[in-house]
Amino acid sequence: MKVKIKRYINGEYRWDEFNIDAEGVTVLEILQKIKEEQDPILSFRAMCRAGICGTCAVKVNGEHKLACNTRVYDDITVEPVDIAPPVKDLVVDHSFFLNKLKEGKVWIEPLPTNVPVKPDELKATEKSWDCILCGICNYVCPAIQEDKNFGLPSTFTKAYRVIFDKRNANKEKLKDLVPLNIQSCTHCKNCTFVCPKDCNPEFLIKMLENTMLRYGLIKKEQQQDFGFLGF
Ligand code: FES
Repeated sequence: MKVKIKRYINGEYRWDEFNIDAEGVTVLEILQKIKEEQDPILSFRAMCRAGICGTCAVKVNGEHKLACNTRVYDDITVEPVDIAPPVKDLVVDHSFFLNKLKEGKVWIEPLPTNVPVKPDELKATEKSWDCILCGICNYVCPAIQEDKNFGLPSTFTKAYRVIFDKRNANKEKLKDLVPLNIQSCTHCKNCTFVCPKDCNPEFLIKMLENTMLRYGLIKKEQQQDFGFLGF
């Protein structure tokens, strides 16, 4: 199998090609094999190897994927993700989207008493809980290219559970999301199509947006006109 890797080295990108004996293995296993057998300084990021920690996002054959849960059978290209500033080879700086969580104060503030939750109530926010902050939704988001203040799909996905989960339900926290320009979302659904955990960020953004409208925190006329998309 031929593996072409786009690497960021000393401020420039370059493509390196490796031949390895493998088939039906994950992209992460391929990267590890190359590092162990051919190029010990190849840099990439990974921890859990099980689709849980969210650190191993790369582009495989031009599409954003988690390296550890993407199996390949033929020649491939591997590149760093889009948007995030490169650090070394396939490693990028994730802080641009993690900082948005701080900006929106997306954290849980526990209620003074325990609140029992029924399984069907838990279901309402389970997609938000599933988010592993891999950032893939952000790397394909056109809204951040147009509006640097946009909060990003991963932030709103996490915010959904902070606001709607019965155990920490806190509509007051909606106010913290106002500076994150939720209405800059174009509802293109790129984030939903690529999410490796099927979190459906676009739907969660829509729900948050509707709730913010209902509470008068944003105004309808500020919404952009995407009439051709039929919303
Ligand atoms: S290594 Fe943890 S999600 Fe891939």
